[in-house]
Amino acid sequence: MTPNSETAKTYPPSAELASKAHVDAAKYDAMYAASVADPAAFWGQQAERLDWIKAPTEIKNTDFTLGQVSIEWFRDGTLNVAANCIDRHLETRGQQTAIIWEPDDPSEPAQSISYADLHRRTCRMANVLESMGVRKGDRVIIYLPMIPEAAYAMLACARIGAVHSIVFAGFSPDALAARVNGCDAKVVITADEAPRGGRKTPLKSNADKALLHCKDSVKCLVVKRTGGQTTWTEGRDFDYNEMALEADDYCRPVEMKAEDPLFILYTSGSTGQPKGVVHTTGGYLVYAALTHEVTFDYHDGDVYWCSADVGWVTGHSYIVYGPLANGATTLMFEGVPTWPDASRFWQVCEKHKVTQFYTAPTAIRALMGQGNDFVTKCDLSSLRLLGTVGEPINPEVWNWYNDVVGGGRCPIVDTWWQTETGGHMMTPLPGAHATKPGAAMKPFFGVQPVVLDPQSGEEIHDSPTEGVLAIKDSWPGQMRTVWGDHERFEKTYFSDYKGYYFSGDGCRRDADGDYWITGRVDDVINVSGHRMGTAEVESALVAHEKVAEAAVVGYPHEIKGQGIYCYVTLMSGIEPDEELRKELRTWVRTEIGPIASPDLIQWAPGLPKTRSGKIMRRILRKIAENDYGALGDTSTLADPSVVDDLIENRMNRG
Ligand code: WT7
Repeated sequence: MTPNSETAKTYPPSAELASKAHVDAAKYDAMYAASVADPAAFWGQQAERLDWIKAPTEIKNTDFTLGQVSIEWFRDGTLNVAANCIDRHLETRGQQTAIIWEPDDPSEPAQSISYADLHRRTCRMANVLESMGVRKGDRVIIYLPMIPEAAYAMLACARIGAVHSIVFAGFSPDALAARVNGCDAKVVITADEAPRGGRKTPLKSNADKALLHCKDSVKCLVVKRTGGQTTWTEGRDFDYNEMALEADDYCRPVEMKAEDPLFILYTSGSTGQPKGVVHTTGGYLVYAALTHEVTFDYHDGDVYWCSADVGWVTGHSYIVYGPLANGATTLMFEGVPTWPDASRFWQVCEKHKVTQFYTAPTAIRALMGQGNDFVTKCDLSSLRLLGTVGEPINPEVWNWYNDVVGGGRCPIVDTWWQTETGGHMMTPLPGAHATKPGAAMKPFFGVQPVVLDPQSGEEIHDSPTEGVLAIKDSWPGQMRTVWGDHERFEKTYFSDYKGYYFSGDGCRRDADGDYWITGRVDDVINVSGHRMGTAEVESALVAHEKVAEAAVVGYPHEIKGQGIYCYVTLMSGIEPDEELRKELRTWVRTEIGPIASPDLIQWAPGLPKTRSGKIMRRILRKIAENDYGALGDTSTLADPSVVDDLIENRMNRG
């Protein structure tokens, strides 16, 4: 994508929207200036949006210095996240809908869960977990479909001070086992089966397979979703539905320190195993709540829908924690955009009168290809705002979203952020900023983006410019550490560019000072808005007995944004054929999960390496992009002739 920001059409907010919005242009300017001039004063005041047991007096203690990176916000404050997301709303909103649940199959009834219901069900889940021996500080893995129990489980953990780690239901048994062991979890919460797009994933059976590779003491709590058959291990497996019937309706929320961990979420990086991103209690919730309210301009009575899965950070911050901390009505959808047909998203919007809709560009691209009728036959007049997240959005797709879905009435917030950042970092605010198709526009309050020269690491102050996107100084939603490996945290985010948080993304800042994200600058690719470390796919491939070596890169893919392109060198004596290609594809799916499924596999008799043995990925990327005319300098290769073979047999000729 090469956005021409200087000539891009801009879409200013309507006067009506600006006048009703939480934040208009003048307020943004004043608040942003205050937030960077005196972060402690600004965030100390913002912290008042939560109910603290002990209000914080020490607001900001943060240090980005390599070797002593330490991030603490509100450190002497205490609170409970579940009490903030539920209990404090009971008096005024007990009967208000907290969660609207829309099942995979549209013929199954939707559910409305009030704040009073949410309180009861969360308390029951908390009591069930306590009865299984879960205590403050223990880790609990959540491996569930998009059902209300996923939210109860998150909030139940928060209520008793347990640290949850959600594993996306699309991940394989091996990936699940790695995460259970990675954080030494006591309990895995799962369900019999996960319905999605009319198909069922056997979650319990996946969990059974995973638990074979875990300590014997790990217990399994099973929620009934489909009633599908499961095998049962007496003493290890617990029936949630049965236990919840007997559990007490009330469970006291535990007093937590602001810096106690709230959750761990594993995410891919440029090297090796996924890392456990740790978010803590106070700062995370302040940030998730404020960004939810301001970015989506959420008002009482709105019906807000984020179509993500709770297995990703988007689901944590913008389906559960942010909206519920604000006493909002949040919609949770179990299904997929294209089943039973490409109208499903819009039917759900019509059915529940959704006011704010937040989704990923990959979904919009897939639906755009199906034609406008699927959209226009639905009544979308309730929509007031649209959002996107996860990857850059091409201007054509932005325009379709704006014109066809939004009817030209709805501002689009293109929110740039990461698992690591806890909440939105850059986005236009709907009542404050003119939007530009494809631009993430402006920093959120307290966020100080900088563009660095990739070679020198110096800040570039002039605009327009392009470089590496880094953040100067901390914000409350920032991750605090990598679970069990603080050194890796420092090395990944603070060592390449000293004194800054390095995002891994590149960006442009246009002549107006607005930001455009250009994509990752490390070996992470973005497949349908899901982050994938190429190293992970490579290690899965070389774990196969017939594979000697593998190199994986991204290439442009019409629907997914980026596809997974694998160069594979086979063990000597192994003949490549279509059968083996299929086998490797299935292999990677079972090792990691369907989202890591290779799109293209090219047999590579050799890989381009330097004389010191380093694979030259730059060349592999170019060939995968079908842009082999401009390979640059290949003279440092140990054997330049391998490149000719790779070009000749390239898989992407589009
Ligand atoms: C990476 C983070 C944060 C929720 C979803 C993904 C890319 C995210 C945008 C955007 C361009 C974006 C970046 C980032 N990304 N939002 N609006 N425009 N790129 O979370 O899995 O942690 O991935 O997603 O490359 O680094 P994640």
